[in-house]
Amino acid sequence: MTARTLPLDDRLQRYVAAHGARETAVQRELRRVTQRMPRASMQIGAVQGALLQVLVRAVGARRCLEIGTFTGYSALTVALALPKDGRIVCCDVSEEWTAIARRYWKRAGVAGKIDLRIAPALETLDALLRQGKAGRFDFAFIDADKANYANYYERCLKLVRRGGLIAVDNTLWGGSVADARNKTVDTRAIRAFNRKLLGDRRVDIALVPVGDGMTLALRR
Ligand SMILES: C[S@@+](CC[C@H](N)C(=O)[O-])C[C@H]1O[C@@H](n2cnc3c(N)ncnc32)[C@H](O)[C@@H]1O
Repeated sequence: MTARTLPLDDRLQRYVAAHGARETAVQRELRRVTQRMPRASMQIGAVQGALLQVLVRAVGARRCLEIGTFTGYSALTVALALPKDGRIVCCDVSEEWTAIARRYWKRAGVAGKIDLRIAPALETLDALLRQGKAGRFDFAFIDADKANYANYYERCLKLVRRGGLIAVDNTLWGGSVADARNKTVDTRAIRAFNRKLLGDRRVDIALVPVGDGMTLALRR
């Protein structure tokens, strides 16, 4: 039988929350403020954020991309892990949500590391490719509209260098990927994306069951 991932009951969830991540006061406040908003579940959790920070540092990232920024928690987290001259290009379409992000980035002293582009992410990524930025990035985090995951991934694979890492959020999609009765557009898109990555020999992959599932793809 396939080795199981330990199921997390509430007590164990609380333990992981208490021991699994070091957050700054600004990170904690942004996470809490966002948790009171209607679309709060879009925000990654503290432990997933800590994992992103470890990954960013492990690949020695200086140039990062984020597709899907919302109120800015994941971008803040990545920016805090970057060296002084590190930069992250963030893609989102929402002025409203990213206005909150900008406030907290400023308070955390990382606003200068973050280049927010308000436009459909495919436009921003294609512009970066046209500007000759292929292979210039070390790390990418994909966390926007699910129907475009394969398109974002293909662009990011061009934009990150060999040995660069692409992290893709929500690849378990609330568990729906394994429920054959679930045929929503987003579930099908994520299933197709997971199949695509499994067969993609351009990368080494790991689907990590953290948060809503996060697939790591290391460019060969
Ligand atoms: C799941 S949220 C991102 C959460 C964020 N990474 C965090 O941890 O707080 C998805 C974001 O993608 C943005 N988005 C949706 N479609 C987009 C598109 N076509 N281009 C750019 N951003 C898009 C939404 O506005 C939303 O803020």
